[in-house]
Amino acid sequence: MTESVRNPQDSQQPSDEGASGLSRRHFMAAAGAGAGAIALAGAVAGAGDAEAATTRLEPGAVPGAPGPQVKHGAALTSNLGVRISDDQNTLRAGTRGPSLLEDPFFREKMMHFDHERIPERVVHARGAGAHGVFELHTSLAQYTSAKVLTQVGARTEVFVRFSTVNGSRGSADTARDARGFATKFYTSEGIWDLVGNNIPVFFIQDAIKFPDLVHSFKPEPHIEVPQASTAHDTFYDFISLTPESAHMLMWVTSDRGIPRSFRMMEGFGIHTFRLVDASGRSTLVKFHWKPRLGVRSLVWDEAQKLGGVDPDFHRRDLAEAIDAGNFPKWDLGVQLLAENDVDKVTFDVLDATKLWPEEVVPVQLVGTMTLNRNPQNYFAETEQVAFCTSHVVPGIDFSDDPLLQGRNFSYFDTQLNRFNGPNWTQLPVNQPRSPVNNFQQDGFMRYANRPGRVNYEPNSLPGGTGHESSAAAGGYVSYAEPVSGTKIRARSSTFADHFSQATLFFQSMTEPEKQHIIQALQFELGHVTVKAVQERMLGLLANIDDRLVREVAGYLGLPVPSGSPNTRIGTAPSLSQERISKPDAATRKVGVLVAEGVSATDVAAISAALRRARVTPVVVGPRLGPIPASGGSVTATMTYLTSKSVQFDALFVAGGTASLTSNGAAVHFVEEAFMHYKAIGASGDGSAVPRAALGSLSREPGVVVAATAQAAAPSFVAAVAAHRHWSRTGVSRIS
Ligand code: HEM
Repeated sequence: MTESVRNPQDSQQPSDEGASGLSRRHFMAAAGAGAGAIALAGAVAGAGDAEAATTRLEPGAVPGAPGPQVKHGAALTSNLGVRISDDQNTLRAGTRGPSLLEDPFFREKMMHFDHERIPERVVHARGAGAHGVFELHTSLAQYTSAKVLTQVGARTEVFVRFSTVNGSRGSADTARDARGFATKFYTSEGIWDLVGNNIPVFFIQDAIKFPDLVHSFKPEPHIEVPQASTAHDTFYDFISLTPESAHMLMWVTSDRGIPRSFRMMEGFGIHTFRLVDASGRSTLVKFHWKPRLGVRSLVWDEAQKLGGVDPDFHRRDLAEAIDAGNFPKWDLGVQLLAENDVDKVTFDVLDATKLWPEEVVPVQLVGTMTLNRNPQNYFAETEQVAFCTSHVVPGIDFSDDPLLQGRNFSYFDTQLNRFNGPNWTQLPVNQPRSPVNNFQQDGFMRYANRPGRVNYEPNSLPGGTGHESSAAAGGYVSYAEPVSGTKIRARSSTFADHFSQATLFFQSMTEPEKQHIIQALQFELGHVTVKAVQERMLGLLANIDDRLVREVAGYLGLPVPSGSPNTRIGTAPSLSQERISKPDAATRKVGVLVAEGVSATDVAAISAALRRARVTPVVVGPRLGPIPASGGSVTATMTYLTSKSVQFDALFVAGGTASLTSNGAAVHFVEEAFMHYKAIGASGDGSAVPRAALGSLSREPGVVVAATAQAAAPSFVAAVAAHRHWSRTGVSRIS
């Protein structure tokens, strides 16, 4: 055994260890505080000085980092610091006799293991996170007093967790679903959590329907099937009876429901929030994240296959990009609406099933977020991060959106369930970077109680202090919204138009995007076994678009119901991701197919050209390691067995590989990439492979063939940048 927990008795201990050997640092580590722990010293020393009793990172500590590393070469110990003599055998009566209950080492180790799990999130259980920084470039001082939105140039630490909504913690990344996009800003004035999705609207208008919505999309409770899929009876039973979900249904069945990468998604705060300035004036706001890499998606067949081939596709992609220094960036945008302009727009700003078209209320970019550090420990950071929509800072406030109001209750409540008590704000990843100073105490796993006698406010006894802060001194003062009304369970009639924006979305799609929505609904409703539910769903679609309902009904073999879509709503081009994509191939991954005898010059040339475009080439060969090539050798890091075409954004078949025409797996790579509309390149006799796979289709758009890789490179890189070649006509002949 070569690795060991640092032993408090160890003679190499740093000098801050107490004489007892159980130092403050070890105490906090044992309590799970880790390197970013609350500085107890501050709290203790500051007992008579409330301002000093703060939550701070220790100097040099990594925010959100896990506890101390198991130290190389040091002795293994129990959690109580006792050195372990044998970690291979339980204590037993004779070498072949029964184990003895008294064995404290076995008991402790097994007890700890048996309690490793905390409840997974009831929704958004599967996620991936990263640390980063947000930098403001345009002040919103005209609208808000929030320093994070007014101090130009200030860098605010962030932690972002992306997630799927439906599946359990071990489900596949690429399931059709909305994606969570939750950002924790560690601002100088406290934590601000922007807990959004990659879709700007939600299924329901009132939070009281959330448990029903979630029950309906989760696996059906009697046999717990299907996992991470909405294609089943109970979901569409609920949706067909909940017409307010029509708009979000369009988004989830669109390409947005199967993103290529977390790095290539937009993010939306969804609800209307308020910005409040120093004088107490409120401006309504919607928050947006705009990815620098553009918005890109998978195709459905590819997403399903990836679910089996690489269920970790998105989390791997995020971690690899950050490790490679390809730090993903998003611009923070705001849509602003004066309080007295709410009557000038055609939707109710409190209705979370409605968006504000950018053509009506433009998005202004004010800052940039860069994710630049992977977590060191998934559990400590990504699993234990706890977001709450109610975490806001002075200058940011809530609207009366009934979904947001319900969320403000729900997230606190659910964290109590996950963390077994209220002390999760002390976990390193959840600690604010600004002072924490109050008289809250005790509870499960509390390790930072103040010493002394005074634990209440107001107080006058020695050791007590603490004072309130005015707005001018940075205190959080809620927006003084005039409120009146009759106590009533009812929705405003201004929430009643459930279909116009669904129609707006569908009409705004390009032709391939429309086809994808139609096919997605054919798939989803094709899995519904109850005819009455299918018919009700068609009734809903009939109010969105004539063609949509006709093509879905035709597929289901059911009559086309009549509806009255609001076609006059027109289009909003900003809703189409095809129209907002960026023409750049950066950070994508290309499989370079090789065989024995491949041209080393071709492999080098295409690899160099791809790297210049910040694209990662991956050599796929018949086996791993060096592959004999003409002009040297090339090294394969993946094979036709260990990889599939779905793991790449594009393929290139290098010259000298005509022998691959008799390799079924290699030919299938090309067929499948073609069917997924991906760029395919070939040089020299490598072009025989696309010809064998595609026949005359090898002349279709996005298939680039040239005598040498060098000659093919410019067009091929451009074809990779285009991402998918929708104008291919022969895809159905392959699939
Ligand atoms: C606009 C609508 C909504 C959005 C954008 C949204 C987004 C999110 C996101 C991103 C997460 C994952 C946070 C993380 O990564 O840890 C999450 C979790 C959660 N959401 Fe929502 N949600 C919405 C509506 C609701 C509603 C209406 C409720 C309940 C009233 C709700 C309850 C929850 C709960 C209980 C969790 C699990 C939190 C945890 O255990 O950490 N959400 N939501």
